[in-house]
This record gives sequence, C-alpha cells and structure tokens, in this order.
Amino acid sequence: MTEIVKIKELQKKFGKFQALSDVTFTVGAGEVVGFIGPNGAGKSTTIRALLGIIKRDAGKAEIFGRDVWKDSLEIHKRISYVPGDVALWGSLTGGEIIDLFMKLHGGGDKQKRDYLIKRFELDPKKKAKGYSKGNRQKVGLIAALSVDSDLYIFDEPTSGLDPLMEAVFQEEVERIKETGKSILLSSHILSEVERLADRVVIIRQGEIVESGTLDELRHLTRSAVTLATEDDVSGMESVEGVHDFIQKDNQATFSADNKYINDILMEATKLGVKKFEAVPPTLEDLFMRHYEG
Ligand SMILES: Nc1ncnc2c1ncn2[C@@H]1O[C@H](COP(=O)(O)OP(=O)(O)OP(=O)(O)O)[C@@H](O)[C@H]1O
Ligand SMILES: [Mg+2]
Repeated sequence: MTEIVKIKELQKKFGKFQALSDVTFTVGAGEVVGFIGPNGAGKSTTIRALLGIIKRDAGKAEIFGRDVWKDSLEIHKRISYVPGDVALWGSLTGGEIIDLFMKLHGGGDKQKRDYLIKRFELDPKKKAKGYSKGNRQKVGLIAALSVDSDLYIFDEPTSGLDPLMEAVFQEEVERIKETGKSILLSSHILSEVERLADRVVIIRQGEIVESGTLDELRHLTRSAVTLATEDDVSGMESVEGVHDFIQKDNQATFSADNKYINDILMEATKLGVKKFEAVPPTLEDLFMRHYEG
C-alpha cells in the first residue's frame, strides 16, 4: 500500500515539556485512520507538525513522500484541513469565506459547495461574526469538502455540531472514502471513529500506545460472555482465558480472552450449551482501558 502519511519517531518539546516523545504511524492510500487519545495526549500537536504549523525537533514526517516542513507549500495544494475551532473573518459572510477558502485551494467544485451548504443547512448569507460555534464548524467543513484533495485531515471536526449534522458529516466522509481518498481523523466521538476508521491509532502522553484495525485491537481484549448449560457450569471457571467468573444456578457470566473464545466454546459444548452470548468490546471499552492506564 502506498503510504500517504508517514511519521516516524516524531518528537516535539515546548520549552522543557516533551509534548511528543515517540509518534510513529502511517496513513495508507484510501485509508481512514482514527487518531484518538485523552486530552493533552498530543493529537493536535502531531497534526500541527504534519501541517508544518510547528517545526518538529526530531523524527521523520512525510506526506505524499515529501517532508512536511520543507515542502509544505507543495503538500498543502493537495490536502484539506479542518480544526475543531474554525476561525473566520467576522465581516465576511459564510458563503464568501467558503469561496475564499476554495479559491486559495485553486478552485473547487461549486456544485458540490451548493450541495453541501444545503446538506449542512447553513445560511451562507450571514456574516461570520453572527455564526454560532456549530455554524463556524460547518463553514470549515463545507470549504474542506468542496475541494478535491488527496488527503483530508480532521482534528475534532464535529465539535459543536448537533447529532443530525454529525451524521451528515459521517455520510460525507464515507463518500470521500469511496473515491479512494485518505483521511486522518482525530475525534473524541468514538462511535464516529468506529464507523469511519479502517484503522485506529491510540496516543497517550506523546507516545503511540496501540494501533491496528478494530478487529486486531479487539483480539487483544476480552468479550463479555453469558453462558447457560445443561450440566453444572462451574467447571468453566478454570478454563484458560476465562476471567471474572460469576455463577448463578446454571448460568455464568465472565469475560473471555478473544483468542481463547473457540476453546472456551468447545469446553462449554461438553456441558450442553443452552445459551451462549459473546459481546465484543466497543472502541469505547478499548479506549477506557488506555485512558485509565
Ligand atoms: N504551543 C504550546 N506551548 C506549550 N505547550 C503546548 C503547546 N501546544 C500544546 N502544548 C501541550 O502539549 C500537550 C499536547 O497538546 P495537544 O493539543 O496536542 O493535545 P490533544 O491530544 O490535541 O488534546 P485534546 O484532546 O484536548 O485536543 C499538552 O500538554 C499541551 O498543553
Ligand atoms: Mg487537540
């Protein structure tokens, strides 16, 4: 797979504070990567370094195979970026600002722009200083989605959007994804990441602590199992991969290492399975594990 974004051992200090100590990950062509982690973990700092807004201290950072600091002008022609706090020129209208953004990007698709203004229910004739937080965010999103980029970088793009508009954003991202574009999406809305991302990268205190597809990450964790059997279920407690075993009559609940789930089910069938339910962890469960350290 062609690597669109390639970051290796990226480091950044602010004064004495080491904001990024070891950030390594890639975004492949046509891939949506969810970038998640607690407040202050270094997501926005990583993204700012990628955009050439701040200069990294060490490590490698490339987009389209070019250095993000030295070749930022060239790179910017092919990327769209939306931060979580879109800043606008107060005296211009939303529509004027969208057109300006599009012009700066070398044009864009006016039909797409009009379609998106409708989709996001934005009044483009209002002056930006009169916009609510959510409406400012919409202006940034409409501008970013109206131009044809090869890489879209979103840093908490839906902050301030209501659930209906958040759903619109997700649908539009899925459209972009279908056209084979690459997306780096940082978000605290884990259902959004779960829906959109092919791969998830988790950052904590300036370091990548885990990355992989959701299935891969799930494989490392446990599912919540409910099991009812004909014969005495108590023997299941000692089966490898079974944890937190609680029994009530012939029904038990426990957490199970996903890599042992097949073995556990085989053992259970010896007792005559009446009910077997295994619920895999959500991204939220996985995330909490890392948040709590
Ligand atoms: N310009 C700066 N000067 C000093 N410290 C900074 C600067 N920018 C970021 N930091 C610090 O670097 C760390 C990482 O911040 P960053 O904004 O990247 O976190 P984040 O993962 O985006 O968090 P959030 O989820 O809250 O957006 C924080 O401790 C922050 O205070
Ligand atoms: Mg941030």
